[in-house]
Amino acid sequence: MIIASNFKTNYTRGSAKAFIKEIQTFVSHTKSEQNVRIFAPFTALDRFDEIQNIKVGAQNFYPIQSGSYTGEIGFEQLEEFGIDTVLIGHSERRHILKESQSFIAAKYDFAKAREVEIVYCIGEPQEIRMQGIDAIMSYLWEQFEGIDIHYDRLVIAYEPVWAIGTGLSASLEDIEEVLTRLQEKLSAPLLYGGSVKVENIESILNVKACEGVLVGTASWNEKAFCEMIRIADTVKK
Ligand code: PGA
Repeated sequence: MIIASNFKTNYTRGSAKAFIKEIQTFVSHTKSEQNVRIFAPFTALDRFDEIQNIKVGAQNFYPIQSGSYTGEIGFEQLEEFGIDTVLIGHSERRHILKESQSFIAAKYDFAKAREVEIVYCIGEPQEIRMQGIDAIMSYLWEQFEGIDIHYDRLVIAYEPVWAIGTGLSASLEDIEEVLTRLQEKLSAPLLYGGSVKVENIESILNVKACEGVLVGTASWNEKAFCEMIRIADTVKK
């Protein structure tokens, strides 16, 4: 399964390095079989030791190799660190940074052409959730506009907006219902994100269609993130 941590706008170069080292040590010692992803801030990217199944990824990039886009980070800057996995479509970029679906699709095409793994995030806001499953699914399908769902390095993270950073995870029934519907049309692995923590990761990973998690807040503690990886190793699917 994929167990991913999204640092968002947290961690410095030094603290990210220490975090990554601890996770690498844990994964090597326990011989964990999880595919661990750590989406660090740009300033913390580096050439980290290659340890089985752990990849440090980028939370964002501008869809250009290099050029004149003051303040942006292009692919040349990611390639310097061998970045092989990127986040696209995260709700904070859609809603706070106002990224449009067409811009998100342009980033997707760019990353696809570079053949990197894409963790593509989708999720509905609270007002859509209240309208029921059909409204939720049509909202989510709109987030696939311009997205090649057949890309073989695609991973999808379903993250309801109202569950992100709120401490209120979606119920297991809700997660199962949405992931099962997504699975009818998509073959990419499906992750759940939104207030995943040590206390609920086991039951979430036991949802049949769920192949991993994307964790923010609760992962910003080495011990807790290691514990989540350990719990994932006990879940047999
Ligand atoms: P959260 O964030 O775990 O703090 O809810 C998840 C995410 O934004 O990916």
